[in-house]
Amino acid sequence: MKGSICSLLALAVTSVLLTASPGDCSTESPERTFYAVLGQSVTLRCPGNLSVPILRLYLQMQRGQKDYFINGFARDKSLPVTEYLNRTEVNEMDLSITMSNISFSDEGPYTCIVFYTEGSKEVHLISLNVTATYSVPNVTADCIHGQVTRGKKCQLSCSSTGGYPESEVKWPGLHLHLNESDNKTTSLQDPHSKTWTINQNVTYYCDQPTNVSCSIGHAVSHTITICQADSFPLRVNVAIAFVVTFVLFLILVLVLMKCHHRRPRPNPEDPALGFPLADCHSQPQNSGDVTTKR
Ligand SMILES: *[C@@H]1O[C@H](CO)[C@@H](O)[C@H](O)[C@H]1NC(C)=O
Ligand SMILES: *[C@@H]1O[C@H](CO)[C@@H](O)[C@H](O)[C@H]1NC(C)=O
Ligand SMILES: *[C@@H]1O[C@H](CO)[C@@H](O)[C@H](O)[C@H]1NC(C)=O
Ligand SMILES: *[C@@H]1O[C@H](CO)[C@@H](O)[C@H](O)[C@H]1NC(C)=O
Ligand SMILES: *[C@@H]1O[C@H](CO)[C@@H](O)[C@H](O)[C@H]1NC(C)=O
Ligand SMILES: *[C@@H]1O[C@H](CO)[C@@H](O)[C@H](O)[C@H]1NC(C)=O
Ligand SMILES: *[C@@H]1O[C@H](CO)[C@@H](O)[C@H](O)[C@H]1NC(C)=O
Ligand SMILES: *[C@@H]1O[C@H](CO)[C@@H](O)[C@H](O)[C@H]1NC(C)=O
Repeated sequence: MKGSICSLLALAVTSVLLTASPGDCSTESPERTFYAVLGQSVTLRCPGNLSVPILRLYLQMQRGQKDYFINGFARDKSLPVTEYLNRTEVNEMDLSITMSNISFSDEGPYTCIVFYTEGSKEVHLISLNVTATYSVPNVTADCIHGQVTRGKKCQLSCSSTGGYPESEVKWPGLHLHLNESDNKTTSLQDPHSKTWTINQNVTYYCDQPTNVSCSIGHAVSHTITICQADSFPLRVNVAIAFVVTFVLFLILVLVLMKCHHRRPRPNPEDPALGFPLADCHSQPQNSGDVTTKR
């Protein structure tokens, strides 16, 4: 007997809820959009008039032609909260309902119905938009010497996963010709989780050091520097400088030695002075004379 009364009551409550559709309301407000992130929670607030006593608050989701009761409160009866009992929390003070562990099936239109104690009722349209955060993109570059006129030819790649909705790849700061035939984007949607994996390969020509990063959704990759000036390693540069200095020093020493040799005999009447080779040549002749004298 008690069970049948309860089920009768539940039926009555449900029929009240199902008839509380936007069609038969006195006031209807413009739609408000709330944004939620996959797996996180979101607080949906109904914009009722808090300075007027409120009898009931219903949050309903529109699925097709029907409205499904999510949660709410009523001061004059109990409400049949089932499916969303563990995932929702009602705050009567500010007419809000917090929904946790959001999934893509929570996306869509909702109605929030406020019954005032004095008899009037307001229906507010709410829309829930669910997004998923893209992973920090991986950016890679593979550069080779291209045509001389265009500098180095770099193959840039940017990839990220786990995001929703599908998003474009952006290369802030780069002037890319994205219509080139060797630029390719692949977008794959996981059929189970509904999230996207995005990969883009682009060709970029550069003739000076360039900082490159890419972004997908709101996620930004770290920065890599491409087209760094072709230079030998520091060790090689130091070695080259050392050798060059040594050679210059050697030349200087040789020149000084030569000048020093010439100075002791500054005889302008010596005809051999203009021909140092002849001077050197006379040396063995003199020593030869000495040997013959012996
Ligand atoms: C809320 O209700 C009070 C009393 O009826 C009214 O004076 C006020 O203008 C209402 N505020 C809004 C935002 O409707
Ligand atoms: C809610 O959580 C309780 C225990 O935490 C569990 O027994 C119950 O089945 C859950 N209800 C739903 C509808 O998920
Ligand atoms: C969140 O929801 C997913 C399914 O949508 C479920 O697999 C997971 O266990 C839930 N996590 C928590 C903490 O309730
Ligand atoms: C959710 O918001 C995004 C960005 O504003 C928009 O592109 C997308 O169409 C929206 N989705 C729904 C179901 O409203
Ligand atoms: C980015 O790189 C890390 C480490 O190499 C790898 O585990 C991850 O799967 C990559 N992500 C994407 C979207 O390619
Ligand atoms: C790419 O677009 C630029 C202008 O945006 C145009 O000058 C160029 O011819 C296009 N290249 C191709 C291969 O379509
Ligand atoms: C992009 O380049 C990576 C390696 O850099 C390669 O694994 C991937 O298949 C390429 N993707 C496309 C769409 O060309
Ligand atoms: C690239 O970034 C580094 C440090 O992040 C900075 O020192 C350098 O000036 C930047 N180069 C260019 C060309 O912007």
